[in-house]
Amino acid sequence: MCGIFAYMNYRVPRTRKEIFETLIKGLQRLEYRGYDSAGVAIDGNNHEVKERHIQLVKKKGKVKALDEELYKQDSMDLKMEFETHFGIAHTRWATHGVPNAVNSHPQRSDKGNEFVVIHNGIITNYKDLRKFLESKGYEFESETDTETIAKLIKYVFDNRETEDITFSTLVERVIQQLEGAFALVFKSIHYPGEAVATRRGSPLIIGVRSKYKLSTEQIPILYRTCNIENVKNICKTRMKRLDSSTCLHAVGDKAVEFFFASDASAIIEHTNRVIFLEDDDIAAVADGKLSIHRVKRSASDDPSRAIQTLQMELQQIMKGNFSAFMQKEIFEQPESVFNTMRGRVNFETNTVLLGGLKDHLKEIRRCRRLIVIGCGTSYHAAVATRQVLEELTELPVMVELASDFLDRNTPVFRDDVCFFISQSGETADTLLALRYCKDRRALTVGVTNTVGSSISRETDCGVHINAGPEIGVASTKAYTSQFISLVMFGLMMSEDRISLQSRRQEIIRGLRSLPELIKEVLSLDEKIHDLALELYTQRSLLVMGRGYNYATCLEGALKIKEITYMHSEGILAGELKHGPLALVDKQMPVIMVIMKDPCFAKCQNALQQVTARQGRPIILCSKDDTESSKFAYKTIELPHTVDCLQGILSVIPLQLLSFHLAVLRGYDVDFPRNLAKSVTVE
Ligand code: F6R
Repeated sequence: MCGIFAYMNYRVPRTRKEIFETLIKGLQRLEYRGYDSAGVAIDGNNHEVKERHIQLVKKKGKVKALDEELYKQDSMDLKMEFETHFGIAHTRWATHGVPNAVNSHPQRSDKGNEFVVIHNGIITNYKDLRKFLESKGYEFESETDTETIAKLIKYVFDNRETEDITFSTLVERVIQQLEGAFALVFKSIHYPGEAVATRRGSPLIIGVRSKYKLSTEQIPILYRTCNIENVKNICKTRMKRLDSSTCLHAVGDKAVEFFFASDASAIIEHTNRVIFLEDDDIAAVADGKLSIHRVKRSASDDPSRAIQTLQMELQQIMKGNFSAFMQKEIFEQPESVFNTMRGRVNFETNTVLLGGLKDHLKEIRRCRRLIVIGCGTSYHAAVATRQVLEELTELPVMVELASDFLDRNTPVFRDDVCFFISQSGETADTLLALRYCKDRRALTVGVTNTVGSSISRETDCGVHINAGPEIGVASTKAYTSQFISLVMFGLMMSEDRISLQSRRQEIIRGLRSLPELIKEVLSLDEKIHDLALELYTQRSLLVMGRGYNYATCLEGALKIKEITYMHSEGILAGELKHGPLALVDKQMPVIMVIMKDPCFAKCQNALQQVTARQGRPIILCSKDDTESSKFAYKTIELPHTVDCLQGILSVIPLQLLSFHLAVLRGYDVDFPRNLAKSVTVE
């Protein structure tokens, strides 16, 4: 959903080539967030900082195309050294305007590139702002909402009441006028060597690297009082001046580098010292010093931002020997599920402790119902665990797609407990649903894979799924770890229930053997590749199952459609006779998930209905199932585990199948068309 990366070297000499390389590497790490087009803004050739102009290079297509373009630019001296420089870069997932160079970011204020900006998010009132600016004579060149921001800052600058207005004040005035979601980084010829970044609803992290000790580990927030009602008096409002004595800066010769990025994967190879900005924070770097300020909203505002140490390792975000991140992440599942359980499940005492929830357990046990909310794959994790949560918590459990939940204005009460499942922790629909539930005073619980993400910060409590960074756009290991996290929650809730003890023990034993069983499933890779060879020219693929394995069908079909572009549908086998059966003929491939569980007999009925119509079922079944295999066109035999955990094993062959189908069809698995990893727009 667009990736932002910016790099400032302050008194750390870097050649233009090195600056390009840093910007391009940053964009490549973020490319999974969008890959319709990419662009950079850097300083021109003049050695005098004060006289440098800004050069923009933008290109349709992936970051690689931009990289090639940069080296074709005759006007750029690659060996030129900059003691201080600020470069901004962007990889785009198109929302407003087709993917082309003009609509790419950075967007600019005017032909002289006085102000340039990169943006992740959507400005919902951009049409009104654009109308206003056009009435003032500003000419627009792109179809983007972002260009409004670039023009608006120039308007504020052109109409400033004092000559010495700061860059951050301009940005502050601009964001007061913006509605929607944004992470923004600005650069300007009027403020050479300075950077301003801000966010609302979209993520933004700042990395700091210096060989000198930083002046502080906590950056105090500088509050301003400001009250601008509408764009017409935006330039008249006076604001209190800031005292910059508390800024972060490196001591010694003050050599320091700052990295601004949409997520940590673009920063980790440079530094693990980061600051997570909060909504409406304005971070400004001037003379190598970073300050953060904001308009005070309430007395309870956190008065500082800590410099935190990232736990991520560089190798976690590299592909290693795999051809795609998705493939690597599928094969990581024996370790990722283990990491989800590590230190939480005690296999000796049959107990589970989720540290982030323990203080809220009493309240959760007293609640009216559990509402589990997510989008896409994260929603499927909720569907997959609904039955076991109902069984272990003995509470009504609703599972909800975040967008639909909001569309319906679903009634939520203060004695509800609402779970928000999100790999990225930044999905706009889920985040809005969270705020909706908070407004209604429900207890909110985050289940995310991203420390410091908006959902993990805004929920009352939560569980980090510990799957490690997931880069492939198609979610795989996050799904199995979300699944396990929710099961662990159910186990923790049922600890005192005598009647549930033997069931709990059975599930805990099942959890213990999962990593080994996942390895066994992964060893079927070659067989699944052969199956893909038979199927990859098909246009459509049905995936059918019920009970604990229904979510596997939904998730398998989602994987297939998103990376292979084949039509695929996850069908509840019980619904087959109510319509989908009409699709079945001898041409249509049908994958059926039939496990030895309480739905086995009913699945056999569905199997008969399919074979009676000359369908050729490919059956994912249990190893010892001789009955289903009699009617199967092909079988993939899976190891057996506890019924409620079987979905973890049955989804993996479908992850592998979608991967092989996509490769055979010639598609880029990690960059499916029209998609992005983190969907930060509604
Ligand atoms: C599918 C996929 C998406 C995400 C969905 C929610 O492979 O990745 O369906 O699951 O966009 O994203 P998160 O989990 O980050 O909230």
